Parts: sequence; structure tokens; C-alpha cells
Amino acid sequence: MQVRTAVIPAAGLGTRFLPATKAVPKELLPILDVPALQLIIDEAVGAGIDHIVIVNSRTKPSIEAYFADAPEIIDKLVASGRIEMAEQMRSIGRDVRVSFAYQDNPRGLGHAVGCARDLVGDEPFAVLLPDELMGSSELLAAMCDVCVATGGSVVGLKRVPRDEVSAYGVITPIGEIDADGVIGISDMVEKPAVADAPSDLIIIGRYVLTPDVFDAIADLKPGAGGELQLTDALRVQAAVGPFHGVLRDVARFDTGNPVGWLSAVVELALDHPQYGVGVRAELERILSSP
Ligand code: G1P
Repeated sequence: MQVRTAVIPAAGLGTRFLPATKAVPKELLPILDVPALQLIIDEAVGAGIDHIVIVNSRTKPSIEAYFADAPEIIDKLVASGRIEMAEQMRSIGRDVRVSFAYQDNPRGLGHAVGCARDLVGDEPFAVLLPDELMGSSELLAAMCDVCVATGGSVVGLKRVPRDEVSAYGVITPIGEIDADGVIGISDMVEKPAVADAPSDLIIIGRYVLTPDVFDAIADLKPGAGGELQLTDALRVQAAVGPFHGVLRDVARFDTGNPVGWLSAVVELALDHPQYGVGVRAELERILSSP
């Protein structure tokens, strides 16, 4: 068994990033010179995924447009000798199969994942929330390994200060975290009050799920915020079978709001082989000017 498919829920309206997201989907906002969505796909491919299912809204056709052939651009690049960029353009959507499902009436993350059911089929699959950039495939690859080894679903975890838990799904751990960062989970709750939170371990936007989750999603009733919550479907799985979390202290950027997006851009720019030195000098100049 191998985890081959990744679902990327991308039907949200990006209201935290208006007015930029009025005409440009937040998933296509550039992280330096690459759309955020491309970095999410690269992370999935790096973990062994070869089929991406994007759950889109019909109001965001530019996401499909990003994967369309672009012969005019490629011809122009080739004619001007920019062969490497031409090849990068060709590779978009070629090196990995990309399919689309549609969520025209956003009713929550559980509902969004449920929209991918027919394209995923009866196999374990990953879910990557595109607002969150992880910087590497290591966490997702480790989660896929745990799913294959245990036959149960797996969530990505991060430890946060107690007063921050209310914005997230929070897990009830079983025992201690092992040397690989893996821990059993018996239950979880979506956006609890701080006083009711079962731990300080939050679910980050990475999941590797067994396909029985689709039946639990189909049975969902509105939960926190009146939405069909993925966390509530995962509770059903955790109650009956093996369910694990993988804890990493990853550099995680929330690119769905302006400050998180800017942090991701600056971090990536400083590390960039071509732009890094210039960006550092420019930032130092800006910070040292009166
Ligand atoms: C979603 C999930 C939540 C998870 C979070 C991670 O919440 O419902 O369990 O902790 O993503 O970012 P949202 O950010 O969509 O409110």
C-alpha cells in the first residue's frame, strides 16, 4: 500500500487577504516568484504523491488556468534562449496528474474533503491545506510511512502555547511521544475553549487519511462554527481504530493572511540562491534607514 493521492481544498474565498484575493485566488499569490499552490504541490510530490486533487470553486477558474498549456509563453522563452524557464513552464501539471473537484457551496473542511471522494477512490490519501507552507516534504513523508505501517489515519501536530489552541483542532494523546515524534491519539476537538482543551498539541494542515473517513464525512452534522468539520469525522476514526499524530517543530507559515504571507516570502527570499544576497542587503538597508 502506498499513499499516491493528495487532496488540496482550495475553494475558500480568501477573505483574510482582501482586496488582493478579490480577483487572484490566495492559492496563486506568489511566494517570491512561485505561486503558493505550486509549493504545496512540490511538498506532496516530494513525499511520493503522484495525483493531486484540487477542490476548487467555479468562481476561481484561474487555478485551472495555471495548469493549462502555455505554448505562446514557452515559444517566446525558447526564442529568447531562456530554456530553463521554458522547461519549468512545461513541467507545470506534467510531472504530476492534477484533477479537479468542485465545492460550490462551502460548508466546511469536512465537506470540502468529501467533495474529492470519487477522485480519491478506496485508497489512503493525503490532505494539504494550502494556507500552510511547511518548507519541506519531511513531515508529510513521515506521516505517509506511519499510515502505511499502522493502517490508520495520521495528522500532523505542533505544540503551541496554551492560549493559542482555540484556533485549531486539539488532540487527546495516548501515552508519550516516541523518538520519531509519533504519538497515539484517542480523541480530538475542534476549536475548544482554552479551559476545555485536552492538550497543547494542535492539528496542523497536513493529514494522511484512510478512505473510511468518507463515510464519517457523509454522516457529519454541523460542528464548531456551524461547519461540517473534518475533525469531527476524524473523531469517529480515532474512536474505533489506530490513529496517530506526527509531531514536528516545523517552520510553518500561514500564507492566508498578509503578515504570514510576507514572512514566508522573506524567509524564502533570504534562502534563494539567486536573490538571497540582494534581498538581505535590501532588508538591512530598509531596517537601518531612519
Ligand atoms: C482547520 C482545521 C483545524 C486545524 C487547522 C490548521 O481549521 O479545522 O482542525 O487545526 O485547519 O490550520 P481552519 O484554519 O480552517 O479554521
